[in-house]
Amino acid sequence: MESRESLRYLIFSASMRSGSLNTQLAKLAATVIQGHGATVDYADMQEFDCPSYNGDMEQKSGIPSGANELRKRLEENDAFIIASPEYNASMPGTLKNVIDWVSRFRPQPFNEKHSLLMSASPSMVGGNRALWSLRIPLEHLGSRVFPDMFSLASAHQVFNGDGTLNNTALAKRFEDNLVAFMNLVEAAKHYPCIKKAWVEFLGERPDPVIDRVEA
Ligand SMILES: Cc1cc2nc3c(=O)[nH]c(=O)nc-3n(C[C@H](O)[C@H](O)[C@H](O)COP(=O)(O)O)c2cc1C
Repeated sequence: MESRESLRYLIFSASMRSGSLNTQLAKLAATVIQGHGATVDYADMQEFDCPSYNGDMEQKSGIPSGANELRKRLEENDAFIIASPEYNASMPGTLKNVIDWVSRFRPQPFNEKHSLLMSASPSMVGGNRALWSLRIPLEHLGSRVFPDMFSLASAHQVFNGDGTLNNTALAKRFEDNLVAFMNLVEAAKHYPCIKKAWVEFLGERPDPVIDRVEA
């Protein structure tokens, strides 16, 4: 069976601000994922920036390059992680806009892609409402959004100079959340192999009534 090294994660922050707390969180996620043996494709939101969705523009000049870049990166990776700011109790318009553009591609690139959502905010709830709003279009588009989300409260006070978190319990919860996600992505990618072995070695035949994945 392939190891974790073959698993690729696209990670980006949905903030374009140079001193972004979400970018710090996304970079920390990248470090943790690499520390657990997987490959990270780190992206900058600037790469995915798009003009406001306009159906006439789509008809005339097609889907813009920022959305095409996100489509390509989604297809190149097994799963994706977004660290999103909370703007007015929701996700930033820039993020929703690029999701709308990307949803116009066929095959639709979010479909069946595993995702993990995280947020950072100076507030006490850590931008968590942005993530509930972000789940809606992603789940609608068929992304397998991981149930546990990570929201970093008082984010302006919890980063050390080296980008780690200054609270050991919080750092462990962050790592545990990422590892649980990685375990699911790994199982989803490799489970068909296990199932094949199960059939070959134990003689149990697949049963479409109880099977939850396709062989
Ligand atoms: C337009 C706007 C709306 C905001 N609304 C919220 C909000 O609803 N909840 C919240 O926790 N923070 C809100 N903030 C504060 C952001 O959480 C804060 O600026 C954060 O640092 C932005 O993320 P970043 O550091 O990754 O750029 C808002 C900021 C802006 C610019």
